[in-house]
Amino acid sequence: MNILELLSLNSYYGHEQVLYGINLAIRKNAITAVIGPSGCGKSTLLLTLNRMLEECGGRAEGEITFAGKDFFSYPKEEIRRRIGIVFQKPSPFPLSIYRNLTYAPVYYGVRDKKKLNEIVESKLKVAGLYEEVQADLHKSALQLSGGQQQRLCIARALTVEPEILLLDEPCSALDIKNTANIEQMLLKLAQDYTIVIVTHNLAQAKRISDYTAFLLNGELVEYGETKKVFSRPQDRRTWEYIEGIYG
Ligand SMILES: Nc1ncnc2c1ncn2[C@@H]1O[C@H](COP(=O)(O)OP(=O)(O)O)[C@@H](O)[C@H]1O
Ligand SMILES: [Mg+2]
Repeated sequence: MNILELLSLNSYYGHEQVLYGINLAIRKNAITAVIGPSGCGKSTLLLTLNRMLEECGGRAEGEITFAGKDFFSYPKEEIRRRIGIVFQKPSPFPLSIYRNLTYAPVYYGVRDKKKLNEIVESKLKVAGLYEEVQADLHKSALQLSGGQQQRLCIARALTVEPEILLLDEPCSALDIKNTANIEQMLLKLAQDYTIVIVTHNLAQAKRISDYTAFLLNGELVEYGETKKVFSRPQDRRTWEYIEGIYG
């Protein structure tokens, strides 16, 4: 089943067009990797998909269907709750670990202390961070290591129970061990969530994704099962990119 369907999607910043006629169906409860050289529009695609593009001075046109309904007919707030985003640079709020995780639930009206504690514990566990921080929940999140901060940001994104998690190069600032931790977590999360991950790490796309989309100069050149895209790409440009000929 497709949770998101994009039809002739164009995205712009001012007069500059960045995405051209993207047709893409995102499978529910799968991991979709978006690959492509720097500047090809990967981040713009994610920003479009949680309505952050407008906040960055951009706009989108075309058709997007989300959970069977016109994406643009949902209130922005609802889109951002149901489609979460995690950025490249870990960006915890300058608050305690606990407050990072209760921030959104409190905003959405959860007041019960026991319920909030439950959210904190369960999301930290999902993110594989609970054991490391359970004794320090009231310590500033900024004191965590980069890898811990990124796991905290993923846990935080999950506190509002989104259906889709968009991740923009979440491991690019992390070492191998932290990257492996996050990959493990994403594989587990894919049982309950739909994941779209932008990565410039082709080995990572190959390891964890079910589907791969290859973007080049704002166009979707190739999209399909990861195994096929990497072993038998249909487009010469995909093959060249995978072989490291450019990008
Ligand atoms: N806020 C912005 N305003 C104007 N142009 C932008 C903005 N953000 C990105 N761009 C341009 O859009 C194009 C695609 O950028 P981006 O989506 O960030 O690519 P990627 O994530 O694949 O590196 C680039 O040419 C970039 O310069
Ligand atoms: Mg980017």
